[in-house]
Amino acid sequence: MTAKITIKKAVGVMALSAALATVPIAGQAGDGVPTGEEVEVLHWWTSGGEAKALGALRSTLEAQGVAWKDMPIAGGGGTNAMTVLRSRVMSGQAPTAVQMMGFDILDWAKEGALADLNVIAQAQGWDDVVPPALQQFAKHDGKWVSAPVNIHSTNWVWGNKALLDRLDIEIPENWNDFIAAMEAVKAAGYIPLAHGGQAWQDATVFDGVVMATGGPDFYRKALIELDQEALTSDTMKQVFDRMSQLRGLMDENYPGRDWNLASAMVINGKAAFQMMGDWAKGEFLNAGKVPGQDFVCFRTPGSQGTVVFNADQFAMFKVSKERQDSQLKMAQAVLSPEFQVAFNTVKGSVPVRTDVSDEAFDVCGKKAIADLKQAITNNTLVGSMAHGHAAPAAIKSALYDVVTTYFNGAWTSEQAVKLLAAAIKNAS
Ligand code: BGC
Repeated sequence: MTAKITIKKAVGVMALSAALATVPIAGQAGDGVPTGEEVEVLHWWTSGGEAKALGALRSTLEAQGVAWKDMPIAGGGGTNAMTVLRSRVMSGQAPTAVQMMGFDILDWAKEGALADLNVIAQAQGWDDVVPPALQQFAKHDGKWVSAPVNIHSTNWVWGNKALLDRLDIEIPENWNDFIAAMEAVKAAGYIPLAHGGQAWQDATVFDGVVMATGGPDFYRKALIELDQEALTSDTMKQVFDRMSQLRGLMDENYPGRDWNLASAMVINGKAAFQMMGDWAKGEFLNAGKVPGQDFVCFRTPGSQGTVVFNADQFAMFKVSKERQDSQLKMAQAVLSPEFQVAFNTVKGSVPVRTDVSDEAFDVCGKKAIADLKQAITNNTLVGSMAHGHAAPAAIKSALYDVVTTYFNGAWTSEQAVKLLAAAIKNAS
């Protein structure tokens, strides 16, 4: 067994060297002559914390003589980025690499637009170290078509520790305690819940509330299997009731606010909590805040022991021959253990390689890594609806519409339940 692995790895390394041999690496280009290598990267990592994390990849590649052409398209959840991408590809100008999630990757793969990364994947043993839950969105027809970057999850809450301590508020264990804690914050004159009213943010909160209310079996039935009975159940009505409770705990300026500005409200102590994926931690870190000391992280109360995940990947498009080496170098850099640590400690996410130690991670990062491991073992890991890992784009956007319209106060919970089930049926 051991011998087999060794041979496989040795063959992999040879294949990798052969794959990358055609272009000189940094320091070998000679006389400062540019190598002509370049990657054009489309992404939506535009907040302070996100840009800092991405900088780790840019500098790794630049050190290898690969120039970085940046194509940032603001908008969390990536909806805007996916629209721009479509028009680029239509006009025959596909970028080298595109930040992408879940079902969107499979859609582009089915269209035949993505490259074959198997030579690098085999050399670095991606099959052995990337969790199967991610592989299902990174491979098509036996070929790796995208390079997984990180594992985020959406069922998190971020809290300002000084404010919570001052008000004598403990980390809530269940939904009622969470609401009671936020009522106490309100009574003390602070904003209980910082939020930005944008469809993808509303849906991100919805992910966590569905999990906290119905647990993993219900989440799967309703949001992954799209089972009409689950979608029209009393549990789903309770989910909407809870969304409405949350809306009452936000300040009146929430519509349209960017997620990182909502994070800033918690960082500055104006608000007590934010319900947001762990990319929010990147903003706290970027502001010099320390987890456990300045801020706390905990799972959406009621969803402890579960992980609602979304993984960013770089989907690699078919590019001209002279760009292929740069593309493979980028894929290789992304999956290297060093980059996985450098990037994910800053971004707030978990490495995509299960063989990377949690040593360099802070207390929230260590918890995220441990939670993921436990959720894989206990089968309580599910894909995020809000971030493209539960259902294809058409269904995701049907859900966005219903959740956001409800959140803006248009309907009762009963109406929302019926409209959600109907919208999902139509989009399926
Ligand atoms: C991505 C994160 C990103 C967040 C906000 C999510 O869809 O997975 O990487 O930080 O959007 O931009």
